[in-house]
Amino acid sequence: MLEHLSEQPKDKILALMAAYREDPRDTKVDLGVGVYKDASGNTPVMRAVKEAERRLVKEQTSKAYTGLAGDPAFSNAMIDLVLDDTVARNRIAAVATPGGTGAIRQALELIKLAAPKATVWLSDPTWPNHPSILKYLGMKTRSYRYFNNETRSVDYIGMLTDLAAVMPGDIVLLHGCCHNPTGANLTLPQWDGLIKLLQERSVTPFIDIAYQGFGDGLEKDAAATRKVAAAFDNVLIAASCSKNFGIYRERTGVLMAIAKNESVRDVAQQNLAFLNRQNFSFPPDHGARIVTTILTDPELRADWEAELEEVRLSMLDLRTQLAGELRRLSNSDRFDFLAEHRGMFSRLGTSPEKVEKLRADHGIYMVGDSRMNIAGLNADTIPVLAQAIIDAGI
Ligand code: LMR
Repeated sequence: MLEHLSEQPKDKILALMAAYREDPRDTKVDLGVGVYKDASGNTPVMRAVKEAERRLVKEQTSKAYTGLAGDPAFSNAMIDLVLDDTVARNRIAAVATPGGTGAIRQALELIKLAAPKATVWLSDPTWPNHPSILKYLGMKTRSYRYFNNETRSVDYIGMLTDLAAVMPGDIVLLHGCCHNPTGANLTLPQWDGLIKLLQERSVTPFIDIAYQGFGDGLEKDAAATRKVAAAFDNVLIAASCSKNFGIYRERTGVLMAIAKNESVRDVAQQNLAFLNRQNFSFPPDHGARIVTTILTDPELRADWEAELEEVRLSMLDLRTQLAGELRRLSNSDRFDFLAEHRGMFSRLGTSPEKVEKLRADHGIYMVGDSRMNIAGLNADTIPVLAQAIIDAGI
């Protein structure tokens, strides 16, 4: 049987991780996979996470199954974090999932059950795993323009023009904040315009929010998601705890499905539990319990928020330094966009050939579409990257 298998397409982000590992140069710089790194290149366990784990080890008396939807205390804590009180609780179905990717997968499966003919619209570009999962599930997709390669900002007119072609019942996938891979984000007035268009077209928004707290702060990063949640009868929200809690390998995420009313919510909740059962049965609990412990303990929460803010500010500082260095070297403001982008990533907006040149000549690894992980930089590598960008004629 196994001899009938053929190779599956490689995920370009994970392939880049492997290539970086194999590069023997000790001057190499990893700007690939979206993992936060501090100035010494480590991805630390956050202080509040360590403390929550200590408490769990001490106090947990059982590892018996939770519910199929995970622990409701986790979903509630995450609903608070992402939505605050924007939507009545009796309209929100929620399940714990294995990471943000698990939430996206379950959301797409829910769409397949509820609206098998719907087209899912993706930003061009988007996180490569979005189209990959959609293709694997055999779902219809289309893309809308998102990024202007010249200005390195959102192509808002292009986006609205393309989205004018959505059909009622279609799904539009949006990044709640810190767009991956570009780092370019809509302003709040632009979100208002987008919401108006999507309302007129009777579509269901689906928000992927994986970087809350990495852009402009926990509250500001949730503002667009809350606006959308308040404006539609149906909204899907996939939230990840990988980055803002730094618990990547614990696989902790949540899928929220906002319904028109409580009775529809109840059926959606039952469907979400069913989908968990079909795909992996009970969701992982360890990371979810860490998150719940932190979010519900005022002292731990304050410490987590403070450390997350340090992380956010350090990435902003790297952005400012890199933009400044490039301004100096290029004697122009054409790289100022780097300081305006938000989150972990920025798209340089250059060709795959030039990205390859950066890798071959300087050992600088970024995704082929010129997405770079800003957190992979430090004070020593910023001048190296800036000079390499100039030398490559970008
Ligand atoms: C990324 O975009 O680099 C992260 O979300 C990690 C991943 O799984 O691709």
